[in-house]
Amino acid sequence: MSSNSTQPAFQLLPRHIAIIMDGNGRWAKKKFLPRLAGHKAGVEAVQQTVKRCVEKKIEVLTLFAFSSENWRRPQEEVSYLMQLFINALKNEAKKLHEQNIQLRVIGDRTRFDEKLRQQIDEVENLTANNTGLKLLLATNYGGQWDITQAVQRIAAKIESGAISSLAVTDELIQQHLSFADLPDPDLFIRTSGELRISNFILWQLAYTELYFSDVLWPDFNGDELDRAFAFFTTRERRFGCTSEQVTQRI
Ligand code: IPE
Ligand code: IPE
Ligand code: MG
Repeated sequence: MSSNSTQPAFQLLPRHIAIIMDGNGRWAKKKFLPRLAGHKAGVEAVQQTVKRCVEKKIEVLTLFAFSSENWRRPQEEVSYLMQLFINALKNEAKKLHEQNIQLRVIGDRTRFDEKLRQQIDEVENLTANNTGLKLLLATNYGGQWDITQAVQRIAAKIESGAISSLAVTDELIQQHLSFADLPDPDLFIRTSGELRISNFILWQLAYTELYFSDVLWPDFNGDELDRAFAFFTTRERRFGCTSEQVTQRI
């Protein structure tokens, strides 16, 4: 579902928050700990963030857990991150379900081993009918991958004669992307002071408000999220219109 110009110019809270959880390695280094300790500590920050989103009745939270480029890291780190992911899914499944959270994993699953794929299916099935927060874990996700897989599926439809090339519109592409049934992110957050997107969501960030924090991910928590919300409420969302046009709408 694309953001559209009928939204109010100022919103109290975002419907969809997308976060690049960055800085685990630097957090560990500062404490003279191995990088892996930073990733472990990052899980706690995820729990705090999810908790605050549930309290605030946020509709969608997307967390960038592992990018399609993170396979380039040392083998030991990649294995540790995969194991951490499996364990977190195992340990948190029941708690997520009890909180009425719906969990979805977005990204290319074909590269995961069978055990991880099963674990993902289990948690997704368990929480599929939950109506509370939609928690999207972007794992082996890349914004470019997302657009590519959408284009491949559309091309297959054209090839089979199901649709004509003239049917390819912005809307059609959007409908073939991950989380096509959900609103686009309203608020993007990246921790650790880096000012880049690193191949996270691309298409659907077209009109997202961008918030960058110097806090390293393991130190992120509900109060830090509130700071991002405070920033968000000050933003006038114009979607290409003039300020006068959008304020007339309120
Ligand atoms: C983010 O922290 C976690 C993942 C990418 C999985 P980093 O591991 O990138 O931490 P820094 O950027 O090295 O500090
Ligand atoms: C982005 O962080 C990926 C995740 C947080 C999962 P990176 O740490 O991989 O990004 P770069 O390499 O610094 O751009
Ligand atoms: Mg990083």
